[in-house]
Amino acid sequence: MRLWGGRFETGPAEALARLSVSVHFDWRLARYDIAASRAHARVLAAAGLLDPDELGEILAALDDLDVAVETGQFRPTIEDEDVHTALERGLLERLGALGGKLRAGRSRNDQVATDLRLYLRDHARGLAQQIADLAQALTEQAAGHVDTPAPGLTHVQHAQPVVFGHWLLAHVHPLLRDLDRLRDWDVRAAVSPLGAGALAGSGLPLDPPAVAKELGFRESFANSMDAVSDRDFVAEFLFVTALLGVHLSRLGEEVVLWTSHEFGWVELDDAFTTGSSIMPQKKNADIAELARGKAGRLIGGLVSVLTMLKGLPLTYDRDMQEDKEPVFDAIDTLSLVLPALTGMISTMTVRVDRLAKAAPVGFSLATEVADWLVRRSVPFRSAHEITGQLVALCAVRECELDEVSDDDLAKVSPHLTPDVRQVLTVSSALAARTTPGSTGPGPVADQLAVVTEQVQKW
Ligand code: ARG
Repeated sequence: MRLWGGRFETGPAEALARLSVSVHFDWRLARYDIAASRAHARVLAAAGLLDPDELGEILAALDDLDVAVETGQFRPTIEDEDVHTALERGLLERLGALGGKLRAGRSRNDQVATDLRLYLRDHARGLAQQIADLAQALTEQAAGHVDTPAPGLTHVQHAQPVVFGHWLLAHVHPLLRDLDRLRDWDVRAAVSPLGAGALAGSGLPLDPPAVAKELGFRESFANSMDAVSDRDFVAEFLFVTALLGVHLSRLGEEVVLWTSHEFGWVELDDAFTTGSSIMPQKKNADIAELARGKAGRLIGGLVSVLTMLKGLPLTYDRDMQEDKEPVFDAIDTLSLVLPALTGMISTMTVRVDRLAKAAPVGFSLATEVADWLVRRSVPFRSAHEITGQLVALCAVRECELDEVSDDDLAKVSPHLTPDVRQVLTVSSALAARTTPGSTGPGPVADQLAVVTEQVQKW
């Protein structure tokens, strides 16, 4: 049942057949291939290449095949080289010789590119929904912590206090950009290659724009050679999923830290943690770790497709068959990781007491002293220096910044009058941050309102 063979004296060697076969993974494209076949059949009929009866019979057979594929009654065999071969066999089984008419003007080269675009555009919508669900879980957690003080870190060292809701929202913005990227990707992916044939277009009076329209594409190809060579839509999709993977990994890494004994900022729900086969006390953040770990394969998928493409001469080359498994794997991987992360985030408990205790640790209010001096006209360069000396004194004495006596403050600098202590609380540091996008409770509430609306739009 091969789609080729007329010029060959022998059949393919077993080793070739085994290398060449793709039906075990490209079978996922079956229903999209059938949709494209319906559109192609109508165009052949419009061109007078199928009479109305033939069109009716072919469409009925495609519908029947579609159901058989969906219910699993029709399955590919190991003899079928790829999804296109298997489906042509299904059509021939239903229609006899008439089934062979549908291949006119069409090549697997334009077919496979069309099928993969249809498949990815369809699955990108489901992926977007899963991303939006995670964004919503984070946003809902953030809503409960708009004025929960927490330590803010740079270099994993205590830097300046923040509110924990701000931190959680900082993980939502990358996801919103991922959603934007998917939407933007779809605009470029919405070009139909069908009608490009093997590479040269068709000598038959086909109608690529009509096919494009029927299949929900924005337009049809402008260049038949580009149409069958272009895998930008695959590489771009894999970039979006790789970057999403990186975002999920960074979130995962933070949850691993937050749930450690040393931090103890967050407690995960039992249902979203795992235990140990030997240590009865263990409660591990495996979801967070798997999110972090699976970023590797998402990045790998992008690298493998870019590398596969980089040396390919136009137009179609068989190397391109390697474009599918990475995107299928990316979609499968994310559809496991995203719901698990969403469940983990929405059920986690934030340890407000531990966060509050940690917020002023590590002289994290030192910048407040420097800013206070600046408001008193001390140049920031000197203010930084003076505050640094105060920090050094406290480090030696093992005390906090506001525990230094008035005399000692004055010894560090005459600018340091006792009322500097007003700025040495976490709540005053947070309240001072009123500019848009800052971590003060006011701007965070504003930000939350905007983000909530953006998340709900999905
Ligand atoms: N299975 C191939 C692919 O996925 C499509 C077949 C094109 N084959 C060919 N010999 N031109 O890329």
